[in-house]
Amino acid sequence: MTQWSKSSWRSKPRVQMPDYPDQAALNAVEAQLARYPLLVFGGEAKRLKKLLGAASRGEAFLLQGGDCAESFEQFSSDAIRDTFKVMLQMAVVLTYGAKVPVVKVGRMAGQFAKPRSAPTEVVGGVELPSYRGDIINELDFTPEARIPNPEKMLRAYTQAAATLNLIRAFSTGGYADVHQVHGWTLGFTDGEKAAKYREIANRISDTLDFMSAAGVTADTAHTLQTVEYYTSHESLLLEYEEALCRQDSLTGKWLAGSGHMIWIGDRTRQPDGAHVEFARGVQNPIGLKCGPSMTTDDLKKLMATLNPENEAGRLTLIARFGAGSVGDHLPKLIHAVEQEGANVLWTCDPMHGNTIKSSTGYKTRPFDSVLREVREFFDVHEAEGTVPGGVHFEMTGQDVTECTGGVRAVSDEDLSDRYHTACDPRLNASQSLELAFLVAEELSARRVAQSEAAAI
Ligand code: PEP
Ligand code: CO
Repeated sequence: MTQWSKSSWRSKPRVQMPDYPDQAALNAVEAQLARYPLLVFGGEAKRLKKLLGAASRGEAFLLQGGDCAESFEQFSSDAIRDTFKVMLQMAVVLTYGAKVPVVKVGRMAGQFAKPRSAPTEVVGGVELPSYRGDIINELDFTPEARIPNPEKMLRAYTQAAATLNLIRAFSTGGYADVHQVHGWTLGFTDGEKAAKYREIANRISDTLDFMSAAGVTADTAHTLQTVEYYTSHESLLLEYEEALCRQDSLTGKWLAGSGHMIWIGDRTRQPDGAHVEFARGVQNPIGLKCGPSMTTDDLKKLMATLNPENEAGRLTLIARFGAGSVGDHLPKLIHAVEQEGANVLWTCDPMHGNTIKSSTGYKTRPFDSVLREVREFFDVHEAEGTVPGGVHFEMTGQDVTECTGGVRAVSDEDLSDRYHTACDPRLNASQSLELAFLVAEELSARRVAQSEAAAI
């Protein structure tokens, strides 16, 4: 394999990246970004890797979630807070059910660039280049809006920095203190699930009161008052990633400083392509989307390239096959991992294989398909004796109507009410919480089955 450098991806075949018409403007932006501070630090990436390693052994569980695409227009303090809140609620439900720590990773503070199924889009007979995320071009359907503009990288960086700053404040400034467990509920969460959540929150409050009365708070105070929250995004726009890639002065290792965890999308995971080349040389935890076209040969090559030292927590395989087809694809990939003796964390993205067009013309995802894919993922792992270590959702704390179904039953007709996503349809707060309850049930059933087996 050739020598890696932060720019060695440039000599590899690239897909899903824009051709910037103004090369001089691109160079200027890259030079500017290369002087900006990193958003995350090597020690944090290392710590996350350790937590993901624990998840790969079933000693923790990964909850990864957030927008499909962050948007400049919808950027607001409230939106960040609400998604953060829902993730905390989901983590409470999961921790309570699974009795293991939940590793919280947002699709946040950098999730701007989007791969598209077609390079152009046709509306009313007019053909224009596709929208590729706010870091590249604009959603408006005009020729000017669709021209890739490198200046947008600077705005994306600024928004990511502000987002991360708020998340860091929420995480350690008292907001995420588990004593606030009742305060994370959002006003519009469905009645039944909200009541179920309140019940858990009451028990947690009782436990905290008991601990305090028994005088056991002192040592654990810090753990209870703060939360570890990490950021992640698809490492798609490699000019941006390279500009924020720096060498750690203490360890000499390279870090993608744009987010704690980066992943490679299902459309850009060619073993000899630019995106794999960039990711292989950085020390961050790496995610790899595995869709129906992933072959066992490619997976073996990718594991060898991305995790040559077989480090635990380095590689997360994000399965996204679609409801009804997990059984056709996942077992053979699990076998390939087992044959190689590879350390990986398996997680389930039940979103990207379940996108359909509604009768009213909206891109949507039926909640039942999402649930079904999660169940199938757990079933396959149970049959194989391997660890289902996490979930990956497109979700928001906003009360949107983008995915159909759920207890509050969003119908095809309701989709137009609050359909705000800049890209794929997201679960709303109520659907997200419902999903967390389901996953918690799966995890606790598994735990009971394991302890019964151990007792025999
Ligand atoms: C995504 O996670 O937004 C995405 C585009 O996923 P995938 O690469 O799995 O299609
Ligand atoms: Co998406």
